[in-house]
Amino acid sequence: MKNHPYAGTLPENILLEILKQNQRHWISGQAIARRLSLTRCAVWKKMAALKADGYDIESSPRKGYRLMEAPDRMLAGEIRHLLHTTVLGQHEIYCHKVTDSTNIRAKALAAAGAAEGVLVVAEEQAQGRGRLDRPWFSSAGENICASLIIRPPLPPSEASRMSILAAVAAAEAIIEVTGLPAKIKWPNDIIIGSRKIGGILLEMAVEMDAVDYMIIGLGLNVNTPGECFPAEIRDRATSVFRETGRPFPRIKLLRRFLELLESNYDLIRRNGFAPVLARWKDLTEILGRRVSVGTINGNYSGTATDLDADGFLILRNDHGGEIRLFSGDITIL
Ligand code: BTN
Repeated sequence: MKNHPYAGTLPENILLEILKQNQRHWISGQAIARRLSLTRCAVWKKMAALKADGYDIESSPRKGYRLMEAPDRMLAGEIRHLLHTTVLGQHEIYCHKVTDSTNIRAKALAAAGAAEGVLVVAEEQAQGRGRLDRPWFSSAGENICASLIIRPPLPPSEASRMSILAAVAAAEAIIEVTGLPAKIKWPNDIIIGSRKIGGILLEMAVEMDAVDYMIIGLGLNVNTPGECFPAEIRDRATSVFRETGRPFPRIKLLRRFLELLESNYDLIRRNGFAPVLARWKDLTEILGRRVSVGTINGNYSGTATDLDADGFLILRNDHGGEIRLFSGDITIL
């Protein structure tokens, strides 16, 4: 059993795997029952559950079952199917049709001891939040609202590294999977041109001067049409659909985000933070530009010269003095 390719995998996931490997081809109920060590009646029940989740599965008493179409739904089996990670997304995946906020759910799970890699996703959030406690708009069933638990061995002073890491993974996933020229706007907005397509909300709990857990909350606009954004953000927000004119499978983007997050996370553990920081700098357009930054302590303007290893933006003012800013709203002048 140890070397069996499905060892430790839930029957639902194996069933999905079998159906997907044979997509649009008939496979007998008996063959499935044998491979899953289930009765044919149990297979029938699992098929009924998949159909209820939106899978288009045809059944015939003589031929068996065939999967015609998988739904674009945030379902655990869909996320895990072809997900090439070892930890992130490989533990429990909690899928909500509606919840208050995936970050709130993930925090509760982490506080109760949930492991690194546990993921919470939702089709809709009633209290989705962005940075600075702003509301986060995401139309139901169209976008990615996901929160991941990580437990990095870091002091709290280095926590912002994880938000830099997440922004790099989100921008790279968009570039690779959709071909859109995603960029990062400090601190961690993901933009296409001048419009925001996604953002990261990082929250953490600290114990005895070390990070206990962190929640990486990712909001990514995928299938919201331009005219469906609320009027107050319509000019500033975009989605993959708005940019390409075509609907896009959300799961592909989420999967690639998890894979890039994990590979860059491993890279940091092996080679330190410098390569990821360098990638962040490649992906931003603010360095070397004159900017104005609104912060809770007031407005600052000057030339954005660098991002340091703790995520601080270095701003040189017109008199040559330098300030380090941790967070704010930046505008290129
Ligand atoms: C920002 O750019 O302000 C960050 C937006 C983060 C939104 C995501 S959606 C999933 C997770 N749950 C939340 O309530 N917020 C984050």
